[in-house]
Amino acid sequence: MSKKINTFISGTGSYAPPRILTNFDLEKMVETSNEWIISRTGIKERRIAEDGCAPSDLALEASKIALEEAQLTPDQIDLILLGTVTPDYILPSTACILQDKLKAKNAAVLDIVAACSGFIYGLSIASAFISIDQYKNILVIGVETLSKIVNWKDRNTCVIFGDGAGAAVVSATTEDKGILGTFLFGDGSLANLLHIPVGGAKIPLPKENIDLNEHLIHMQGSEVFKSAVRAMEDAAEHIIQKTGLTPEDVDLLIPHQANIRIIEALAKRLKLPMSKVYVNIDRYGNTSAASVPIALDEARKKGLIKEGSISLLVAFGAGFTWGSAVIKW
Ligand code: ACO
Repeated sequence: MSKKINTFISGTGSYAPPRILTNFDLEKMVETSNEWIISRTGIKERRIAEDGCAPSDLALEASKIALEEAQLTPDQIDLILLGTVTPDYILPSTACILQDKLKAKNAAVLDIVAACSGFIYGLSIASAFISIDQYKNILVIGVETLSKIVNWKDRNTCVIFGDGAGAAVVSATTEDKGILGTFLFGDGSLANLLHIPVGGAKIPLPKENIDLNEHLIHMQGSEVFKSAVRAMEDAAEHIIQKTGLTPEDVDLLIPHQANIRIIEALAKRLKLPMSKVYVNIDRYGNTSAASVPIALDEARKKGLIKEGSISLLVAFGAGFTWGSAVIKW
């Protein structure tokens, strides 16, 4: 009998544009303060992509690092799954653009539009393809340039978002390790709590909508906040149960970095001490789909993930979408 095929993460990489925008910079742009932003979100600074820097450029840098770590060349990648809500173009997909830049000429290509959950959706799809032996090596990316779709006059949203990219190569193995399970959820009935009202095929972009900033992010923050805590707890509990673990088995929680208060509430509900939670929101803000893979890469590079240890990844975003994954290293 052939051995079960598991999916393990063979390499990770991350990249953020060098330009830093601090809370003090924002004080000069909208009516806000460093104290308010830190106390309500945990964010001190975020990275901003320069004009002309596309998400595919950030994704390329993160992907190169992940491939090097996985000791693979781009032509060994069978599929590129790229999570983003800030694509280079509406058409074609950013995964296509990246494939060309990376010279991953044997890869099929697909964008995933699941907002902050995009990377976990990608891991789940990659894991499914590998388990049926369709692909051996899949590049999963989360990348955003949210700075380009944020209303810089709206203090409710512009202080929380940032730009960046994270990538992971997932590969087939018959060893007893890797992605033990994933769970994906969605609820389209709450779409209007966090959305961009116009600019799609339903309501294209006439000039009056641009004047009203309807093509930029609109968010009902406190409603989203409550849903995020509930959904991430639910996603974490589902996957812990599905994989036959208990919260005590989790060595490191890597949550979507939306707000330090959301992360702390989640840790409390899961009865996990903050020493087991990876946090970098102070340096990047909310980078949506890029948030979990950047945090994952940093945690690995800092030596916080040991062989045999268990990591729990959880995310929540616009849609609403949410999901979780458990990885044994
Ligand atoms: N500076 C100063 N005051 C502010 C700011 C600011 N930047 N922003 C809002 N305020 C004010 C509000 O106007 C309000 O004033 P009022 O009481 O006079 O009306 C007051 O602060 C409280 O506003 P709330 O919106 O209730 O503040 P809250 O504590 O909820 O924090 C925040 C807002 C940070 C947006 C929080 O709700 C949050 O993090 N929400 C979740 C975001 C999230 O998880 N998004 C999902 C993923 S993103 C994606 O999918 C792309």
